[in-house]
Amino acid sequence: MVKPLYDNRLAINIGGLKMNTPVTTASGTFGFGLEFQDFLDLEKVGAVTVKGTTLEPRSGNKGQRAVETPAGMLNCVGLENPGSDYFLQETLPKLKKIAVPIIVNIAGNSPEEYGKLAKKLDVDGVDAIEINISCPNVKQGGLAFGTCPDSAVEVVKAVKANTSKFVITKLSPNVTDIVEIALAVENAGSDAVSLINTVLGMKIDIARQQPVLGNVMGGLSGPAIRPVAVRMVYQVAQAVHIPIIGMGGIMCAADAIEFFLAGASAIAVGTGNFSDPRLAETISKGILEYMDAHGIKNIQEIIGKALPNR
Ligand SMILES: Cc1cc2nc3c(=O)[nH]c(=O)nc-3n(C[C@H](O)[C@H](O)[C@H](O)COP(=O)(O)O)c2cc1C
Repeated sequence: MVKPLYDNRLAINIGGLKMNTPVTTASGTFGFGLEFQDFLDLEKVGAVTVKGTTLEPRSGNKGQRAVETPAGMLNCVGLENPGSDYFLQETLPKLKKIAVPIIVNIAGNSPEEYGKLAKKLDVDGVDAIEINISCPNVKQGGLAFGTCPDSAVEVVKAVKANTSKFVITKLSPNVTDIVEIALAVENAGSDAVSLINTVLGMKIDIARQQPVLGNVMGGLSGPAIRPVAVRMVYQVAQAVHIPIIGMGGIMCAADAIEFFLAGASAIAVGTGNFSDPRLAETISKGILEYMDAHGIKNIQEIIGKALPNR
């Protein structure tokens, strides 16, 4: 149950998912939310999106997993997580006490595995499932599900067939045409899309003359990717009819507002949580200040305002 905490000019309802503020947290950058409780009031975040959860526990990648880059970072954590049983038994009971929607980000090796996990998570306390389709499709030589419309559709259908929850599909930017994938997952029944996941990148240590990251390549996040993310939200918003959760390098309210103007109904704070664990709360306050300065009565007024013909 969501308690009204903010000025209700920020309240949104995306396809039945009600939030006090359109500012959420990006998966993998906010733990399970509980780790951040000493820094901010979790009930002042629109929704908590938990770290990528898999059917079985995963130990993640070996070697160095993160490195700073100009205006961002590269990571190859490799979905280290304690697995779905632990999440359901240990984490969810604690999360249930927090009055904000809980979005569980899921990952798997095959559409069947995604389906099985969605079914297991179809329980009280989980408000939405976010499907990470940037994972390698083991049967298709490790190509990420999200890079091909057919495999993305297979995953979405497997999840939709096994859950009663609101389903968000998280799109990968590592594609030629993100609109094609967005339309495919919308047609497959996804209730919303979130974008963008990290951009594939790499760094080489010139002293060792070797890649820095244990996994060689990693995902670039932070301000460096924001213009790419804004462009992709703007393109997807002109094609789909389902709500968009925008993310990628959001560090302040002004950044968040760009995403709303590009067509996002909600946004997520990711890498920014690492430098300021209170950032999500600060951004909600900053959005209200922008609304006051511009005479905006409801956040809905600016969603998609920069799109052509609006
Ligand atoms: C350390 C780290 C771990 C992440 N783990 C996940 C994950 O488990 N599942 C997922 O869908 N995205 C994951 N992401 C991607 C973020 O949720 C987000 O889409 C991306 O970082 C872009 O936003 P940002 O630039 O604000 O960080 C991760 C990102 C980082 C930096």
